[in-house]
Amino acid sequence: MIKIINLRKSFGDKKVLDGVNLEIERGKITVIIGRSGEGKSVLIKHIIGLLKPDEGSVFLEDQDLTALRDRDFNEARKRFGMLFQGAALFDSMTVAGNVGFPLKEHTDLNDEDIGKVVTEKLNRVGLVDVEEMMPSDLSGGMKKRVGLARAIVMDPEIVLFDEPTTGLDPIMSDSIADLVLDTQKALKTTYILITHDIPFTYKIADKIAMLHEGRIIEEGTVEEMKANPNPILRQFLEGRAEGPIKVF
Ligand SMILES: Nc1ncnc2c1ncn2[C@@H]1O[C@H](COP(=O)(O)OP(=O)(O)OP(=O)(O)O)[C@@H](O)[C@H]1O
Ligand SMILES: [Mg+2]
Repeated sequence: MIKIINLRKSFGDKKVLDGVNLEIERGKITVIIGRSGEGKSVLIKHIIGLLKPDEGSVFLEDQDLTALRDRDFNEARKRFGMLFQGAALFDSMTVAGNVGFPLKEHTDLNDEDIGKVVTEKLNRVGLVDVEEMMPSDLSGGMKKRVGLARAIVMDPEIVLFDEPTTGLDPIMSDSIADLVLDTQKALKTTYILITHDIPFTYKIADKIAMLHEGRIIEEGTVEEMKANPNPILRQFLEGRAEGPIKVF
């Protein structure tokens, strides 16, 4: 469904993406892993056009998103939902205001109908009677759930998640994994996730791709990645300070 071809991006003289190639299959969960600062957020921002590459393309079906003009891009953009790193809720809006925001911006639905969709999506992510709460009153796990509800509120074909479990306890992280699986199955949506949470990755991924030094160095199913002897991949998956990746 999405094909990333030879994507390159530098900031000043810092090379972040150095020829990324990756295919995202329709209706599947693709998880991109990699160390902090390797460029995972930069990569995902190219997929939804928040950043333009120095070189390379991001194809959505047969459309090169990096070559689209603003108006055409906005059309393509409606097919995407996004959960930003840290959930990125609007602090001055209620939970309902946050989740309903994309509907208010992009549809003609009236407030009552928006309210119904918002409640339905909140319930789907396991939240009841939180509509009038403010983001500052929510726990970390609740914020991620609200962010997830907002990401899927338009029933997008493709949802991008930037670190949906960072900062959560392992049990909450596992429950987010269940939610990801439940919401993905319901509509057979294409999910792209970025994380360095390995148990989470093993639970949800149809395909794992590891970003390292600006490239996808290995990719495969959970079983394939578990059996892959690449020492860089092994060090990362097993979380060891010793190995080819130097910490300092
Ligand atoms: N707009 C920008 N201007 C300059 N440098 C940037 C910009 N965005 C990202 N970078 C740099 O690109 C590198 C990769 O950043 P990125 O946020 O993609 O990492 P990440 O893999 O998402 O890390 P983390 O797991 O900590 O979120 C970093 O060195 C960062 O400072
Ligand atoms: Mg990031």
